[in-house]
Amino acid sequence: MRSLGRRVPHPPQLLLLLLLLIPGLQGPAAGSSGLSELKVRVRLPDGQVTEESLQADSDADCISLELHKPDGTLISFTADFKRDVKIFRALILGELEKGQSQFQALCFITRLHHNEIIPSEAMAKLRQKNPRAVRQAEEVRGLEQLRMDMAVNFTKGSWLSPHIHNVCAEAREAIYTREEDAKFWMERGVDGSIFEALPSPPADLSSLRRCRHVGDRWKPCLCHYGLNLAWYPCLLKYCHNREPSGRLSSYKCGIRSCQKSYNFDYYVPQKQLCLWDEDT
Ligand SMILES: *[C@@H]1O[C@H](CO)[C@@H](O)[C@H](O)[C@H]1NC(C)=O
Repeated sequence: MRSLGRRVPHPPQLLLLLLLLIPGLQGPAAGSSGLSELKVRVRLPDGQVTEESLQADSDADCISLELHKPDGTLISFTADFKRDVKIFRALILGELEKGQSQFQALCFITRLHHNEIIPSEAMAKLRQKNPRAVRQAEEVRGLEQLRMDMAVNFTKGSWLSPHIHNVCAEAREAIYTREEDAKFWMERGVDGSIFEALPSPPADLSSLRRCRHVGDRWKPCLCHYGLNLAWYPCLLKYCHNREPSGRLSSYKCGIRSCQKSYNFDYYVPQKQLCLWDEDT
């Protein structure tokens, strides 16, 4: 695999991200604003097909992805390259017969590494030849287990990323991150007062029982939530050209698609807030 330097030689003919994705040569260009949207049909791990929307804003240097699960859950993912932040949000439909409110929102915020997803400027150029094709990721990336041991104060969220205000508005009371990520951002100048340990010391996560093993709805426990990003462009592919001088040059000519699952564990003050996590 080639490493993705930010500086890649740009032969004049290129802009090209081919393969299943081709450049927007026919239609109007993505617009000078650097905003673009791509809708793709994707196959979920359980075999069902859903629509996924991928948006890129190369000026703000961010990418967002949104997908509806067949059970009504809306999953969204936002990558903020400027702040090294990624935000996962789940809007989970409540089961009214269990006395749950209309929906429950969760936000999980962790550090974004720059090799996790293609740059926003490349994402903004992606086009597809056949919008009806059902896409399946070429690579399944390993499951990531994340222990979310801190809360993020929504009011101060914009100190970390300007996207938190919009993306996590419904999840004010349920925005989680990890101490190790908080440390990284604090070293980069983010004010530590936006983070709060969960549960408050002296209790700690490891002493908590999993919600699925707790019978009492009013007891605190360790909640589990798993989500899957079914299809996203994770790497740029490079092609090579031999110039008349004999020199080899490389240029971006496509993408590799990935799928990845994330498991989040986090503290809830009452099992009531984690009713999906049950023995079945
Ligand atoms: C979040 O920050 C605001 C503004 O400083 C503060 O008023 C509020 O109490 C904080 N919320 C929590 C849950 O600590």
